[in-house]
Amino acid sequence: MTWDQRAALLEVKDLKVHFPVRTSLMTQMVQGNRGQRWVKAVDGVSFSVARGRTLGLAGESGCGKTTTAKTLVRLYRPTTGQVVFEGTDIANLGGRELTSFRHRAQMVFQDPYESLNPRFNVQAVLEEPLVIHGMKSAKERLARVMETLEIVGLTPPSVYLSRFPHQMSGGQRQRVAIARALVLRPSFVVADEPVSMLDVSIRAGILNLMKQLIRNMNMAGMYISHDLSLIRYMCDRTGIMYLGRIVEIGETDDVVRKPMHPYAQALLSAVPVPEVTHEEIKVPLEGEPPNPVDLPPGCRFGPRCGRRMDICTRVEPRPMAVGNGRWVECHLYRQTPDQADQEMVGNE
Ligand SMILES: Nc1ncnc2c1ncn2[C@@H]1O[C@H](COP(=O)(O)OP(=O)(O)O)[C@@H](O)[C@H]1O
Ligand SMILES: [Mg+2]
Repeated sequence: MTWDQRAALLEVKDLKVHFPVRTSLMTQMVQGNRGQRWVKAVDGVSFSVARGRTLGLAGESGCGKTTTAKTLVRLYRPTTGQVVFEGTDIANLGGRELTSFRHRAQMVFQDPYESLNPRFNVQAVLEEPLVIHGMKSAKERLARVMETLEIVGLTPPSVYLSRFPHQMSGGQRQRVAIARALVLRPSFVVADEPVSMLDVSIRAGILNLMKQLIRNMNMAGMYISHDLSLIRYMCDRTGIMYLGRIVEIGETDDVVRKPMHPYAQALLSAVPVPEVTHEEIKVPLEGEPPNPVDLPPGCRFGPRCGRRMDICTRVEPRPMAVGNGRWVECHLYRQTPDQADQEMVGNE
C-alpha cells in the first residue's frame, strides 16, 4: 500500500481531478457534449499522511501539485476517488460539516496575497476566520491572534496588528499567511511552494518555522515544491508526480538517495540535492511533458524515458511495492506473483 505506516489523518484513494477543456461556442454547437475533452490534472493518486508527519510532493510545473493541494482542502471537488479526512470522505460535505472541515484543514499558498485581503490589517485578517467559525468573544479572539503572531515569530505581536499586507516585507507577509492558516489550530496544513516567491536569504526562516510547527502542534503536513532539496529538508515521505500520477513514493531518504523511477532519477540528476551523491545517475530529461489532455498510450513518461521498453508503449504501469513502504509505477520493477498477493492483502 502507499500508506504511511502510522494511523492516517488523511487518506487519499485513487483521486482524480479532471477539468473540462473550454472550447469555442461554434465547436460546442457542432459537436455537442460528445467532443468534450478533459485536462487530467490529477489522474489517480493515492497516499496518506499521519499526524506529526510531513509528505512532500515534487515534480515539474503542470504535473498537478497545486490541483492536488486545492482538492485536499476542498477548494476543488474530486472528480472521482476519495479524500478521507479524520474518517470522513470530504467529497460531498456541505453546510455545517463543510465549515467544520474548513476549520481543520488549511492551505498556505505560494502568493500570500491569495489568502490576505489587501484592505484588511493583520488583526482583521487573522480575526476573520475566528469570527466565521464562531469565536464570539472579542477578547478571546484578540488573545488567539496575539498568540498566533507570536508562534509565527512576528514579535512583539502588538506591533503588527495594525499593519496592512503592503506595509510588510515578503517574508513577514508569508508569516502572516501562515498565521492565518494556523489561527484556527487545524490538524492538517498543506503548503504550496510557500517560499518560491521569497528571497533566498529569508527562506530558511520560513522553512524552519513550518517544520517546527508541524512537529510541535502535532499536525499532519504536506509540502509542495519543484525543489527536491527543500523537500528533503522538510519531509518524512516524498512523492514524485508526473502528469497527474505519483510515479514513486517512499521515505524521503530512500527516494532522494536512490530514486528508482526513471523520471525521479532524471529529476534528481537535473537538480542535484546537496550532500547527496548520485554517481550512478546520469539521466537526461529531454523535452517538455506532453499536455495532460492528450496522454500517450501505455506509460505516460514513456516518450521521454531513456529506459523505455516495448511494453511501455502499450501497457500503463501499476504501482508496485518495492519494500520499506515504497511504491514505484514502472515496468522496470515488475511484480512477482508473491508481491501481487501481498498487495491484495495490504489493500483490504
Ligand atoms: N482550474 C483549472 N482549469 C483547467 N485546467 C487547469 C486548472 N488548474 C490547473 N489546470 C491544468 O492542470 C494541470 C496541472 O496544473 P497544476 O495543478 O497547477 O500543476 P502544478 O501545481 O504542478 O504546476 C496543468 O495542465 C494546468 O494547466
Ligand atoms: Mg503549482
